[in-house]
Amino acid sequence: MPTNAATNNGPWDAKLQQFHGGQDWAHLDNFVEDFSVTTNAFGMPEAAKLTAIHSIDHSHHYPPADQEPAKSSLARFLWPAEYLDERNRLILGNGASELIDLVIRMAPSGVWKPGPFLTQYKEYERSARNNNFTMLPEGSPDKANVVCLVNPCNPTGDYLELPELKQWITENVLPGGYAIIDESMQPWHSPEFRHHSLVGEREYVEALYKEQGISVFVMHSWTKLWCCTGLRLGSVVCPTTEHMRAIKKAQVPWSVNTVALAFLDAVVRDTEYLDNTWTMTPVWRKLTIDRIAEMFPSWVFYGREFLSWIWVDTGSEEVAERAVELAKKAGVPVRSGRPGYNLPTFVRLAVREPSKVDVLLAAWKAV
Ligand SMILES: Cc1ncc(COP(=O)(O)O)c(C=O)c1O
Repeated sequence: MPTNAATNNGPWDAKLQQFHGGQDWAHLDNFVEDFSVTTNAFGMPEAAKLTAIHSIDHSHHYPPADQEPAKSSLARFLWPAEYLDERNRLILGNGASELIDLVIRMAPSGVWKPGPFLTQYKEYERSARNNNFTMLPEGSPDKANVVCLVNPCNPTGDYLELPELKQWITENVLPGGYAIIDESMQPWHSPEFRHHSLVGEREYVEALYKEQGISVFVMHSWTKLWCCTGLRLGSVVCPTTEHMRAIKKAQVPWSVNTVALAFLDAVVRDTEYLDNTWTMTPVWRKLTIDRIAEMFPSWVFYGREFLSWIWVDTGSEEVAERAVELAKKAGVPVRSGRPGYNLPTFVRLAVREPSKVDVLLAAWKAV
């Protein structure tokens, strides 16, 4: 695969594309574990993976144009009781990335603004720039036509509970505008995640649309929770069925392929996988932080306890660079805060099981 050595951004074309983690593994002879992405530490759920593999057998047919039955299965996962009423607000995409771009293309033009945190996942900004929005920085006091807030925020780990989130939307979106709230990492919250999610706030979303013409979209990348980045799976909950239909009209047909649909249809039923995720992620996360803090007492750790990653400020560009370099050399790449986020003292690492952390920490002895 050609690389762009001049900019040191690996396979990414730094002039044209937004940098993301997750590209190093394929180029490492000694690859052990990918700490550079925020995927689930439990890997791809086994039963759904088998279903996906078997779906190859009928991949000489087109996928269903209505994304069913996978779409209804996901609706049932999101709204166990009300899914029949709610599923017409839902549409699937080829990763959240496809839907982020589609929704921003449909949005009212004008001013764009990110969430209030130090930085956030950059695809929203990239898409807004490509669509000629006027860009406001994080923390700007001005309202915008389109706001995009990542909650929980990748990479900083900040998280707004519903009352704060609603208040931020009220204070930051102009009448007639769009609020795109990315809850890709929110299901990690706990078995009660639905009660803390904007997905269940139908009355609030309806009122905002009726009274101020503000459209609230809830975006999900499913490639992290169910560790299937290569399959490409995302969804968006729209404020109304009409918004969903507008996306459907603009979306390329069959953008979610047969294998991804089969995987999704099966994975939403794997309760054991999610129980393990909710039980072990905070345990492994804390263990990892404790071990790193013992080695590097001055490093500062950010993010809520349930998250699938740790955002670390090493306090030094040189140290962060060395940590990234040593991790990559040892076959356990981590994400540098420099490319994309322009925060060169930071690194981001995924929560992983202790035996994989052993490899990373052995490498970091030389930092
Ligand atoms: C917060 C967030 N949203 C969306 C995405 C896009 O994910 P995908 O296109 O793989 O579904 C990512 C990927 O890292 C992410 O971290």
